[in-house]
Amino acid sequence: MTLEHPAVAVPFETTGEAFAVARERLSPEVWDFLDGGAGDEATLRENRAEFEAWRFRQRVMSGLPSPSTATSFLGMPLSMPVLTAPFGADGLFDPEGQRAVVRADRAEGVVGIVPEAGTYSLEQVAAAAPEAARIAQLHPMGDRRNFRTMLRRIEDAGYRAICLTVDCPTGGWRERNLRNRFDIDPRVVGGNYPGRGSSDLSDVFGQLFDRNEAGVWSWGELSDAMSDTQLPWIAKGILTAEDAVAATSAGASALVVSNHGGRQLDGAPASLAQLPEVRGAVGPETEILLDSGIRRGADVVKAVALGATAVIIGRLAAAALAAGGEAGVRRVLRLLREEQTTVLTLLGRGSITDLGADAVMRAQR
Ligand SMILES: Cc1cc2nc3c(=O)[nH]c(=O)nc-3n(C[C@H](O)[C@H](O)[C@H](O)COP(=O)(O)O)c2cc1C
Repeated sequence: MTLEHPAVAVPFETTGEAFAVARERLSPEVWDFLDGGAGDEATLRENRAEFEAWRFRQRVMSGLPSPSTATSFLGMPLSMPVLTAPFGADGLFDPEGQRAVVRADRAEGVVGIVPEAGTYSLEQVAAAAPEAARIAQLHPMGDRRNFRTMLRRIEDAGYRAICLTVDCPTGGWRERNLRNRFDIDPRVVGGNYPGRGSSDLSDVFGQLFDRNEAGVWSWGELSDAMSDTQLPWIAKGILTAEDAVAATSAGASALVVSNHGGRQLDGAPASLAQLPEVRGAVGPETEILLDSGIRRGADVVKAVALGATAVIIGRLAAAALAAGGEAGVRRVLRLLREEQTTVLTLLGRGSITDLGADAVMRAQR
């Protein structure tokens, strides 16, 4: 098998190596910000342990042609069931930040979720790949007027859906950052608030994360705020049947089963472990994304077999960006797609969309 990599030299050959190269290139504090999790990082480890606890129920001699990884999410075609995550402070990893990510996404036929706390504004990211389908991410809390303005901007810039991060009422207890006294320059998270000085920006994000004043919203308030737009919305950060039902009842068109890559509540369960509960609560029709712990193509196949419509890559996309810029993100996406094709062929399946729970089993110990 030959991989057709982009012509630009990329300094890594595997998804694992993308992390090693990113670590070499970034300062120790920025690496810890990218790689780290909350508390003792138990949830961060658990995310990987859960993927490793599943085995494939390999079938042979299927007589099927080369398998297809193509699928879709909310009507947007995908060359494989992968989206890139809304990761903020993206300019810390590469000067082009999410602009490079969405260009790579478009070239590889996947969809990017563009963060509110990004280095570039959502309009600047849209302009980097004008014809690409994109999703904008927002934090549903804080000042309602600012939120309404953001909805209008998202619509005007041609985004196709809105991803609302519901598991971030405040930042997680990230001890690596505390130890490093890591202080994010407000400008790398302030692309959406141009013209504001650094103290103004601290205000915007301070207000966003202020639990006491404009504070955390309820599902009712969220539903009310979203009645102001026709765009479909997705609730990111769902781990229980109760919240899955609450989110869809509030109007969410899709869910992201996520523990934020173990960066928020340490002690939360692995996302993959919660996927069957959430799928069971909303039934087969609702589209569900999964993130937290995706590191290779085989992980994507396991997540889809267990009920995900598609997955989101966070650290893997950020590391690819840090290691090789736009070409690095393209390479990671290609590696993910080629590995999925190989896994599906060996599994004896004709298409990623045909997978069910019978394709996997729990490891026997
Ligand atoms: C550096 C970094 C910044 C992030 N910033 C945001 C953000 O601004 N909003 C958000 O919803 N999620 C954010 N996330 C979480 C990701 O969207 C995603 O949920 C998580 O990275 C998935 O886990 P994984 O890293 O194991 O793939 C961030 C993740 C990283 C690594």
